[in-house]
Amino acid sequence: MSATSSSPQEVDTDDCLLNYSYIFRDDMLKDKVAFITGGGSGIGFRIAEILMRHGCQTVIASRSLERVQASAKKLSAATGQRCLPVSLDVRQPVTINAAVEETLQKFAKIDILINGAAGNFLCPASGLSFNAFKTVLEIDTIGTFNTSKVLYQKWFKEHGGIIVNITATLSYRGQILQVHAGSAKAAIDAMTRHLAAEWGPDNIRINSLAPGPISGTEGFWKLGGLTKAVASLDKLIPLQRVGTKSEVAHGVLYLVSPAASYVTGATLVIDGGHWLTGANNLSVMQALLQKSARL
Ligand code: COA
Ligand code: NAP
Repeated sequence: MSATSSSPQEVDTDDCLLNYSYIFRDDMLKDKVAFITGGGSGIGFRIAEILMRHGCQTVIASRSLERVQASAKKLSAATGQRCLPVSLDVRQPVTINAAVEETLQKFAKIDILINGAAGNFLCPASGLSFNAFKTVLEIDTIGTFNTSKVLYQKWFKEHGGIIVNITATLSYRGQILQVHAGSAKAAIDAMTRHLAAEWGPDNIRINSLAPGPISGTEGFWKLGGLTKAVASLDKLIPLQRVGTKSEVAHGVLYLVSPAASYVTGATLVIDGGHWLTGANNLSVMQALLQKSARL
């Protein structure tokens, strides 16, 4: 395997990296403040860590206060930066309002918003209840709009800002058992372009980042990552392996950095080329579904 496609050392649990080698300048985000939904776990946790390692202070927000509190402690201990844990439900603007008010009281500004909160599970469209489809759209799509709009009204409109929406490649080839999440993430990619056009004049950059299969995450586990049925997934990916949380976080780091100062309305795919070759495999997916009816 060549150096260009080997993965950095990763930790699969919601804990900080044991070693970190800088690729970007270590003070690149000094004095910046990032508000990260879904920042208490998985990909969001690693995004918080990598931004903090570059001098950023963070707010990590999700429904479970207990979870974000525990994560904030780990993140601050490992990076020496402040991390404020807040509880919110992205489906309820009133809770986002309160969390943003608290952030502005504590940090006096917000420079970056990462919309990472999401919900997903495998389910065929025929078995999906109306409420199940609606729930995923509400968390992913409406939640991303709600949070972006509150941040816009309370800070970004006057001061500018950077938004990164975490999406997915599921809709690119119409992935089976994923009509809910694929539709939700495709709508977010559309929202990224609409808001980039509308809010560009306010000095706000908005981009999507679409990860492929990423190990050590709830999303990967829920979509069958630990089962035998997808054990051969590596061979189907052009770069011959699944991705790491750090690789996604480094994509975010690029998008929020001055290196991306002219990038807006774009979607950065970080998937080792997976969607290009990862065809809908009906028999594998059906086997997966039968193994666990409610992943
Ligand atoms: N398969 C089919 N339907 C499911 C399901 C599954 N595995 N899990 C939940 N649903 C349905 C429920 O039955 C319910 O529909 P109903 O009222 O018609 O019965 C609907 O989805 C909402 O479920 P509920 O548990 O009330 O929603 P919630 O808001 O408490 O939780 C989820 C949202 C379902 C997305 C939950 O999995 C979650 O909180 N996920 C966050 C973590 C995550 O998914 N991480 C991966 C990110 S990619
Ligand atoms: P994860 O750890 O489960 O992340 C989802 C986060 O969203 C959790 O921290 C959860 O915390 C929060 N959340 C869920 N519902 C919420 C709500 N209503 N309000 C506020 N927060 C809510 O899973 P992950 O796999 O790391 O996924 C992170 C992001 O990457 C998601 O956007 C996902 O779609 C995307 N993604 C992941 C993969 C992958 O392979 N893992 C691939 C493509 C895209 P609480 O439960 O405390 O609320």
